[in-house]
Amino acid sequence: MVRKIILDCDPGHDDAVALLLAVGNPNIDVVGVTTVGGNQSLDKVTYNARAVLEKAHATQIPVHAGCGRPLIRPLKDAANIHGETGLDGVILPVPSRPLDEGHAVNWIIDTIMNSEPGSITLVPTGPLTNIALAVRMEPRIVERVKEVVLMGGGYHVGNCGPVAEFNIFTDPEAAHIVFNASWHRLTMVGLDLTHQALCTPEVQHRIEGIGTDLAWFVSGLMDFFRKTYRDDASFADPPVHDPCTVAYLIDSSIVATRRCPIDVELRGELTTGMTVADLNGPEPSEDECRTQVATKLDFDKFWNLVEDAIRTIG
Ligand code: BDR
Ligand code: CA
Repeated sequence: MVRKIILDCDPGHDDAVALLLAVGNPNIDVVGVTTVGGNQSLDKVTYNARAVLEKAHATQIPVHAGCGRPLIRPLKDAANIHGETGLDGVILPVPSRPLDEGHAVNWIIDTIMNSEPGSITLVPTGPLTNIALAVRMEPRIVERVKEVVLMGGGYHVGNCGPVAEFNIFTDPEAAHIVFNASWHRLTMVGLDLTHQALCTPEVQHRIEGIGTDLAWFVSGLMDFFRKTYRDDASFADPPVHDPCTVAYLIDSSIVATRRCPIDVELRGELTTGMTVADLNGPEPSEDECRTQVATKLDFDKFWNLVEDAIRTIG
């Protein structure tokens, strides 16, 4: 079954890999890409999204720019990890398709309301500002979306302090809105899972072995990502967070999940932006609980999918 998705992102090295995996896999139909200020300013991440689609020969996919800052708090970008451009380390092609008109939030609402109910899956891989505003502006989208699979949060680890993850920490109020909406299903692909998606030297050599310009582009992205993750976060290899969402949609056996209630801390002294997952007791049934956390990644299957997508794009 081909999944229709809206990828709401802030490219970002790992967002770029998520875009390539989505574009290069025959079971994913990217209806549109929307952008949000996060890893870098809105202008920069929007340019990056268009440039990556250009690189992937996918210029038929519309790109709509959304919110430039979180709902309440100022934007603190992740230049320490993604560089001044948001995609440092590679030369980007100049996008041939002009940026599409219309704000991302309006476009998300119109697309969902004009599509078959249950046909669109939302895949946010940046702060949740656009999705939260869409929910507030047109609450009926919640019922019409098939499911939400987002990268963000974590149930036992953070990367902006001990317990908060960047996408949630950047706009906790937006995350609070999204996690508390009654989606048919919401899957939190958090750091617990994505820290297993390491681009090891072996993985990177395999990608380079594909030998195409695109493969070397991905390798260049990974070189930069590895360096900043080493310098800034003491990781030997970079965790490639965002494509784990897309991989789960392509083949759910790649990501093990566990249903549990999840909420977002807004006012903790030490815990603002934490995704609080209640894993006590037996796993609730689907009727009792519509949210779930991702727990375990099938590393080999995941990277095979990424490699296949790079090969398919050519
Ligand atoms: C998330 O933060 C961003 O820097 C990455 O693109 C990813 O979406 C990981 O915490
Ligand atoms: Ca991201």
